[in-house]
Amino acid sequence: MQLFKRNKPLVGLDIGSSAVKAVELTKSKKGYQITGFASEPLNPDAVVDGAIMEAKSVSDAIKRAMAAGKFKPKGVATGVSGHSVIVKRVVFAAGLKEIDAAVQLDSDQYIPFDIAEVNLDYAVVGPGTTTSDDPGTEVVLVVAKKDKIENQTNVISLSGKNPEVVDIDAFALQNAFEANYTVDPNATIALLNIGASLMNINIVKGGLPLFIRDVSVGGNQYTDILQKELQLNFQEAEELKLGKTGGPEAEMVQPLLESITDMVIMEVHKTFEFFRETYPNETITQILISGGTARTAGLAPKIEETFGYPTEVMDPFKSITFGPRVDAAKVTSLGPALAVAVGLALRGFDQ
Ligand SMILES: Nc1ncnc2c1ncn2[C@@H]1O[C@H](COP(=O)(O)OP(=O)(O)OP(=O)(O)O)[C@@H](O)[C@H]1O
Ligand SMILES: [Mg+2]
Repeated sequence: MQLFKRNKPLVGLDIGSSAVKAVELTKSKKGYQITGFASEPLNPDAVVDGAIMEAKSVSDAIKRAMAAGKFKPKGVATGVSGHSVIVKRVVFAAGLKEIDAAVQLDSDQYIPFDIAEVNLDYAVVGPGTTTSDDPGTEVVLVVAKKDKIENQTNVISLSGKNPEVVDIDAFALQNAFEANYTVDPNATIALLNIGASLMNINIVKGGLPLFIRDVSVGGNQYTDILQKELQLNFQEAEELKLGKTGGPEAEMVQPLLESITDMVIMEVHKTFEFFRETYPNETITQILISGGTARTAGLAPKIEETFGYPTEVMDPFKSITFGPRVDAAKVTSLGPALAVAVGLALRGFDQ
């Protein structure tokens, strides 16, 4: 999924709610190489539910990430997600020649926001069937609220970098997937990027998104339950979750974490049900999970067991080599949490 073509390396900058992650890629005949990366933690109040609450601390974290990564490109590609973003497939009653006018004119009925408050874009899928005899054209309609985009580009400018591309996290996820995996054009693959506060879902087929949705669940909920049930602060609960601390609570931890895994699976279930109603003829063939929370012990097997689709943790570096300046062990330890940043960095190249 590529809305604009370009060929100028960009730093992929993923502003998540737990950390700012940045990736630089270089392209050669042999393929992509990661030539720089950084991850800087954010305090839990800096970005809440995808909204930047503390612009200064976020732009400071971006500055630290840029210094740590020693990146060459000045421009960055960033992504937006959450409630302020809508991606859906729509069939407009218009031929290919009239599609642009039709999208501009008729999109408001598919958008729960004032059209003046959004940036609108689309990609043509192909001919589509309408309820009348008129020719139809199916598009992937992309809508993002202007204030959300500005919120994000402002902190980037504040950090001294140029926000040159604003992508959608779910598209970046798909680009990272397609750059790394050999994709059967007939396969229907569910990509789930489970971060700290948000799960981006993109069900893809033949290089195009069939179904995109962001759900407010993520790793923070695992941390929250430990915090509440065991009277810990955020940091203590986070460390306990990640197995960095043992202690007397350890045996109480597992069932609490499993209760959250059940809840995450419920949300995935709801989304899959909705997908099935929308696309009764499509069957998911595989699930790939990414985001930091993808590494939760037992999550991938539990998803596979529940839905019956082969499920694995996505490796955003499966086909990407490590450059000499890059600490491969560190990159590997972050692994699936860098999927969106990799996809954003890919926006610097014609694909
Ligand atoms: N090994 C692990 N096991 C379980 N959870 C993990 C592990 N490593 C990281 N996490 C969790 O992953 C989350 C961070 O993932 P990620 O970096 O993808 O999120 P984010 O992009 O900052 O957040 P979001 O996109 O939701 O705003 C945190 O909740 C963190 O605790
Ligand atoms: Mg994220």
